[in-house]
Amino acid sequence: MLPLIFGIVPFLLSHQALAQPYTPICKVVLDGRIPLSATPATFDAVSPANPFNPTYARSTNLKWSQILRFPTVTPSVFDWQSKPIEVTINDKSIYNNQKGIRRAGLVFSANSGTDDITNAGVKTFHWSVKQPPVGARPLNLTHEYMNVFHVRQDDKGFQFQFTVGDAMKPKDPRPFTHFRIIDKNENVAFSTLISFKEWQNFAVTLDYNRNVMRIYYSTGNDELKEVVGERPNDNSGKGRFQVGIFKKPTDVSPDVNTYLNTGFQEADFEESQIYGGIYVEDSAGNCITK
Ligand SMILES: *[C@@H]1O[C@H](CO)[C@@H](O)[C@H](O)[C@H]1NC(C)=O
Repeated sequence: MLPLIFGIVPFLLSHQALAQPYTPICKVVLDGRIPLSATPATFDAVSPANPFNPTYARSTNLKWSQILRFPTVTPSVFDWQSKPIEVTINDKSIYNNQKGIRRAGLVFSANSGTDDITNAGVKTFHWSVKQPPVGARPLNLTHEYMNVFHVRQDDKGFQFQFTVGDAMKPKDPRPFTHFRIIDKNENVAFSTLISFKEWQNFAVTLDYNRNVMRIYYSTGNDELKEVVGERPNDNSGKGRFQVGIFKKPTDVSPDVNTYLNTGFQEADFEESQIYGGIYVEDSAGNCITK
């Protein structure tokens, strides 16, 4: 009986309906869920246990083993057999001499600029985010952060951005305390209040054949709900997915060529974000793991 039900309505099944261990319903094309055996040093070298590029995108002054921590928090619902990871930044987190930015970004690709398998067909980008414990390493929402994104291969724009904080280009009427998913035209497609208690689970589907996007969201252990139905989005230009922290400066023009190298960043700080359930799945036939 079960195989028949699974065969007919795979897209209706939530992971809560499945017995542990959690098995994604759709094909995972890039898996950034952190193996339970991983240590900070795992991320300093290429190995089967390291899903990410060991040299990019981080300051050459800080190794991943200095940037990453394993927090003692309950894992995201998307991490049955994997564990959360905490990405930190401080005043040494300067990537590629871009003095305006403080950055540490986990990326799958080599430095070719694309995650080829995520750039065709219909793909869904998943991540869960949790705030560090109150009082420990909070983001400073006076700044704008672009912590998750899919950037074009030519670096001229983003198929989507996930931002929070005081927006440099304020097209969003909602306050800086909201996470925002921004579309290719830099309009806010979705926003929701940052939670200091629960995991927040996001997924963005990019359909490269039809140039549309969809957005899914839930909190805690709830299953993902479609919060933004299909809407036009120019998904051309290939590119790569990044999850981490990208802190923009204050007191500067929002023009990217200006803010990368100038503007104000405070000294002596440490901030972090906790991530889980990072993966990209094949959403052909509307398959999505909720
Ligand atoms: C937040 O950032 C602003 C601008 O960099 C800085 O002036 C302020 O001291 C920071 N606040 C905290 C609490 O770190």
